[in-house]
Amino acid sequence: MAFLGVNIDHVATLRQVRLATYPSIIEAAALCERAGAYGITVHLREDRRHIQDADVYALRKSIVGKLNLEMAANSDVIAVALDVRPDEICMVPERREELTTEGGLDVAGQLRDLKPVVAELAGVGAMVSMFIDPEAEQVDAAAAVGAACVELHTGAYALHEGDARQRELERLRDAAERAHAAGLRVNAGHGLTLENVAAILSVPHLHTLNIGHSIVCHALYVGLEQAVNAMLVKCCNEHAVDL
Ligand code: PXP
Repeated sequence: MAFLGVNIDHVATLRQVRLATYPSIIEAAALCERAGAYGITVHLREDRRHIQDADVYALRKSIVGKLNLEMAANSDVIAVALDVRPDEICMVPERREELTTEGGLDVAGQLRDLKPVVAELAGVGAMVSMFIDPEAEQVDAAAAVGAACVELHTGAYALHEGDARQRELERLRDAAERAHAAGLRVNAGHGLTLENVAAILSVPHLHTLNIGHSIVCHALYVGLEQAVNAMLVKCCNEHAVDL
């Protein structure tokens, strides 16, 4: 059974659209941990569209489980990572125009540049992971660059259906076997939902699944009724129903 890392970027997205002080990602992280999450994941993007530097520092102090920082190899984000010393760091590709991380990191194409960055980040005690597409070349490159872990990109699996999804699952299984044989820890994530996650558990050697967007969205469905009720009780009590 894999562990669950909860990505809370989109709690910060809700805060940033109003530049408000709520919702608090510290409270959100605490709720995730109370529910059994193994770790909290945040992506400090170059454009700071959701998570801010101060969030990473505050989470480092507040959470009891693992802090997993997703980041591209940008110098200012590397400086934060070296200072905060997260338990885990997942290196991802980043493009300003993208809505979310689109593909895996081309580790094979950037071996020489990534090697010193991985060594520097590992030097502060972080388990460094490469977010890669499930391809043999990328798994081998992750091992060659000195990473301790790979996070297999499940986005293509999540996007496809039927036979195409099965083929993506096979690619994930093969990549996981190869990574494990190379001594790498195997994580996976992106696009996973309550509907598609069950089959992912057939991928061997899975340590952690990192899931964000679908959990934050599901929280609206399971919490909206209570939130409306709480407001009714405060402002129009005669219309509040007993939940
Ligand atoms: N893993 C990585 C490396 C990611 O970049 C993301 C998205 O930020 C996730 C997991 C979580 O993806 P989702 O939000 O689709 O669950």
